[in-house]
Amino acid sequence: MIAVALLMAQAAADPAAVAKGEAIFAQSCSVGYCHGVGGSAGRGPRLRGRGFDRTYLVNVTRDGVPKSAMPGWKDRLSGGEIDSVVSYIMSLASATDAAPANPMPPGVGPAAVNAFKGPAQAGRGHAAFFDAQKQPRCATCHALGGRGIAAGPDLSKAASMTPKQLGAAIQATSSNHTSIVKLKNGESFPALQTGSEGGIVKLYDLTSPPPVLRSVLREEIGSIAKETGWSHGAVSKEYTAAQLADIVSYIYYAGAGTTRPVKAEELK
Ligand code: HEC
Repeated sequence: MIAVALLMAQAAADPAAVAKGEAIFAQSCSVGYCHGVGGSAGRGPRLRGRGFDRTYLVNVTRDGVPKSAMPGWKDRLSGGEIDSVVSYIMSLASATDAAPANPMPPGVGPAAVNAFKGPAQAGRGHAAFFDAQKQPRCATCHALGGRGIAAGPDLSKAASMTPKQLGAAIQATSSNHTSIVKLKNGESFPALQTGSEGGIVKLYDLTSPPPVLRSVLREEIGSIAKETGWSHGAVSKEYTAAQLADIVSYIYYAGAGTTRPVKAEELK
């Protein structure tokens, strides 16, 4: 009976809504301390492999759970977004594994890389940008062409920069955006701050890729200190000079639709 209900719930799910929900979940719900990658549990409960009632999920997601760490999302997500997240959680109901086989954020895996259609150099740059073998890769912190995680700046606007400017940004040896956050409970981690609202500071925890978006109560923060250890240049060393040129060509293609061959010398 339960199995039949699960199958029906699955069959009814709209794949586009599930995919959209997966992306929202990766950013807002799976964060290190809550429901874990693919709903495999963090400090919050496991959502994977459990059958939930749709109305229950919608209510809990919208209004939160009183006297618990689960916040209500109605001010942060639209009704449609909440529906998509719920569709995604419902799609996990029949998962029998404890954790997802491929814990990669949507659009970052090999399938996304293979799907590229465009000029050859931009195609090589696209593959390098999302290269799952590299830790970190550009897509660890940047979204481009509608994929990846936008912890760092939105790179679609970077298409207006010259190759020399892009080369300088990518190989910069200092950063003015990352810092070391120390919490009063003793935890400390490198982070990218994205904003703050009321008593809550939003930041990406860069401890290990992918960055996880965390909302931390301001009163839990001991200090936020400028970090000197992180630099963009260290990330760019993961790539060869030719690959960086390919990536810049991809930035032009994805951001402005231009086919622009880029030589490694232009980035110097
Ligand atoms: C660990 C996170 C991280 C990774 C990985 C990363 N970046 Fe960045 N990127 C940033 C941050 C943060 C900034 C903002 C400037 C700063 O703080 O250094 C930035 C800035 C940039 C800029 C300048 C954008 C602007 O609008 O000025 C470009 C271009 C860029 N990154 C490209 C890349 C490319 C290409 C790669 C892969 C080779 C990459 N980034 C990898 C975090 C990252």
